[in-house]
Amino acid sequence: MLVVAGDPIGIPGGQDQTYPFVAHPHYYWLSGCRRAGGVLAFDPDHGWSDFRNPISQGERVWEGADGEAGGLNVADLKAWLEKRSGRPLAVVGANHPEWKGDELLSQQVCREIQHLRRPKDAGEVALVARAVEASARGYAKLPEWIQPGTSEREIAIRLEAEFFLGGADCTGYGTIVGSGANSAVLHWPASGRRMAAGELVLIDAGGSLDGYTADITRVYPVDGEWSERQRDLHAILLQAQVNALNGCQVGVEWGDLHLNTARELAEGLGALGIMRCSADEAVESEAIALFFPHGLGHMLGLGVRDASGLAPGRHEVRTFAGARLRMDLPLQADYLVTVEPGLYFIPALLNDPKKRAQHQARVNWDQLEPWMELGGMRIEDNVLVTPQGPRNLTAAIPK
Ligand code: GLY
Ligand code: MN
Ligand code: MN
Repeated sequence: MLVVAGDPIGIPGGQDQTYPFVAHPHYYWLSGCRRAGGVLAFDPDHGWSDFRNPISQGERVWEGADGEAGGLNVADLKAWLEKRSGRPLAVVGANHPEWKGDELLSQQVCREIQHLRRPKDAGEVALVARAVEASARGYAKLPEWIQPGTSEREIAIRLEAEFFLGGADCTGYGTIVGSGANSAVLHWPASGRRMAAGELVLIDAGGSLDGYTADITRVYPVDGEWSERQRDLHAILLQAQVNALNGCQVGVEWGDLHLNTARELAEGLGALGIMRCSADEAVESEAIALFFPHGLGHMLGLGVRDASGLAPGRHEVRTFAGARLRMDLPLQADYLVTVEPGLYFIPALLNDPKKRAQHQARVNWDQLEPWMELGGMRIEDNVLVTPQGPRNLTAAIPK
């Protein structure tokens, strides 16, 4: 088996510029090495061999690289493979420009490594906890920074600066700051828009440290005061989020947790006069996905999506209450997941004539107008599943 780190990707037209290099997580997780060009090779009869790209003179001159890369020279991988020719080969991680493995075997091994990476060890949890701590520093300042007239970008810049000052070495993903109607755009990158009194701002951001990241979402009223509609919707969402968080127990099916949350949100929307069918019907007909179109969360740790996906033996991507979940598996001890339900008024969904016709009797369409300008809300925590129950790593950041 070869586990491949990958190579830097050139920026189109950028001459010698590359995107920041991220070693394939399978490789980094197994080797602890974040350097490009490396390959871990495994032979069940001989164990592991660690092939690395030697440090070049260019790296010493331009980047101040020092010492040696360690391990074996990756140029010797060819001879290692030739000695084993004729035997089955799995190649996982990044694509290797030269070596291709047996396709089915490689896919199978890849799924198995993915599954092995799911439970987090104490060192990994400590890294995420440090990323959370750095992020919490920024979140603590948000109420002071969020003011009418402030731009989304100003908030993003200050927040990220605080993450970095707190020890993060990058952000785990593009910082989302969505004010007003932008709060209903699930992955809105902070823009120059200035927020106004009476609006909400949704912030989804996390610092990352040594490749391990936090992923946190909170919603704030721009002038510090919730309107009645905002408060009512937030209360429903928060209750469902807390229930989902408490539901993160060993053995619980993630899909069931999503369905319970969807049902609870549908009930809340019914109480607000937005939906007018039973919660069961809202879930079975998938009408709830008009307002909650994404999954309850995903695995977190080494990267923002970490080792989500399907439990061993599951191959079909299923939808739950109209959402495609990023993971379909039973929770196990030491899994680290995000719990991030949301409720949104998304014009592209709610003004779609086909969806309106399909769910004509399930939604109070003529009552939607005043809700549309509210945008949307999501609340996201990072939760470690333990045999003693869920441990919320982001509990110190007020919701
Ligand atoms: N931060 C993006 C997400 O939670 O999916
Ligand atoms: Mn997330
Ligand atoms: Mn997020």
